[in-house]
Amino acid sequence: MIYFDNSATTKADPEVVSTYDTVSQQVWGNPSSLHQFGEQAFNLLEQSRKQIADLLGASQSEILFTSGGTEGDNWVVKGTAIEKRQFGKHLITTAVEHPAIHNSMEQLKQLGYDVTYLPVDKHGRISVDDLKAAIRPTTILVSVMAVNNEIGTIQPLKEVAEVLKNYPKIHYHIDAVQGIGKGIQDLIMNDRVDFVTFSGHKFHAPRGIGFIYARRGRKIAPLMTGGGQERNLRSGTENLPAIAAMAKALRLLLTDEDQKVALERQIKQRIFDHVKQFPLVTTFSETGADFAPHILCFAIQGVRGETIVHAFEEHDIYISTTSACSSKKHVASSTLTAMHIPENLSTSAIRISLDDHNTLAEADQFNQVFDQLYDKFKVLSA
Ligand SMILES: Cc1ncc(COP(=O)(O)O)c(C=O)c1O
Repeated sequence: MIYFDNSATTKADPEVVSTYDTVSQQVWGNPSSLHQFGEQAFNLLEQSRKQIADLLGASQSEILFTSGGTEGDNWVVKGTAIEKRQFGKHLITTAVEHPAIHNSMEQLKQLGYDVTYLPVDKHGRISVDDLKAAIRPTTILVSVMAVNNEIGTIQPLKEVAEVLKNYPKIHYHIDAVQGIGKGIQDLIMNDRVDFVTFSGHKFHAPRGIGFIYARRGRKIAPLMTGGGQERNLRSGTENLPAIAAMAKALRLLLTDEDQKVALERQIKQRIFDHVKQFPLVTTFSETGADFAPHILCFAIQGVRGETIVHAFEEHDIYISTTSACSSKKHVASSTLTAMHIPENLSTSAIRISLDDHNTLAEADQFNQVFDQLYDKFKVLSA
């Protein structure tokens, strides 16, 4: 079996699952309880928070736990809108964001907020000149993804940071769900960013757990109100087993990160070089340093993405159409649409997404199966 759908989700690491199990069974107290079981749970909660903060070069109080990427994105967008509504109602994001950002923005539009979607070039990248032109006195948030989940483009996060240094009141948010562990931590945790979203299941932690980085002194309104957990910002009894497991998964992810990234780049390059030779193939991802190491998106002209996915599945190889969220909706990828790729080509796109558990031998096997399937694709295309 070859699993090349790691941007949809990753397989939980056995060591991480073992932490989850141990904590569930041995540290089952509620961190808010006053007795010894509560104290034990509270200590583990704060130890996990500190471990995550240390790994990211943040301080402990800047890490706030959530249920995952979707919640983190919703929270920063809507929490900023609520918190800063007296100052302005204009938000800026890109035309290629994940629906967690896009649909949060659309919801705010219904409530009277104004949103600018920055266009992208043929590589799916925004320009800082467009950003500069979009900023208004009423702008309260700029939200930019680190790595595009469909084609792997890395956005110019540091250039955005430089622009926003002239606008200290605007919140700068980065959706780093696809960017963590991909060798770009210095771009993500830059000296201007205010909020960053992370999701555990994209790096071998369990589902339903994530966190945001929130720079000290920057305020967003809570969306979950209740018992006052997470410094009164995100109520709800903490999912301690998943939090401890995620802290471990992050440590494992960032251990030998450079080697892992180099391996992913090699695997991507090997598949890229191979498929590029075939006349029906159009690649949307590039292999240079301004693209993430783990995402490769290309189309086979005239064959639907779903057909390609199922053809590979028959060979026990698991890939996806451009994103997990859109794959069952049979719609063209929003990123490719924003890049002005015609619909007849974008509906033929597939995404291969790697992680450090993949191997070069798997790339070779993929390429062999690709050769076998190509004759079938040629017939379908004709
Ligand atoms: C860029 C990006 N943001 C946000 C999310 C949502 O994360 P989650 O699945 O943890 O809700 C995803 C998931 O694919 C993503 O790729």
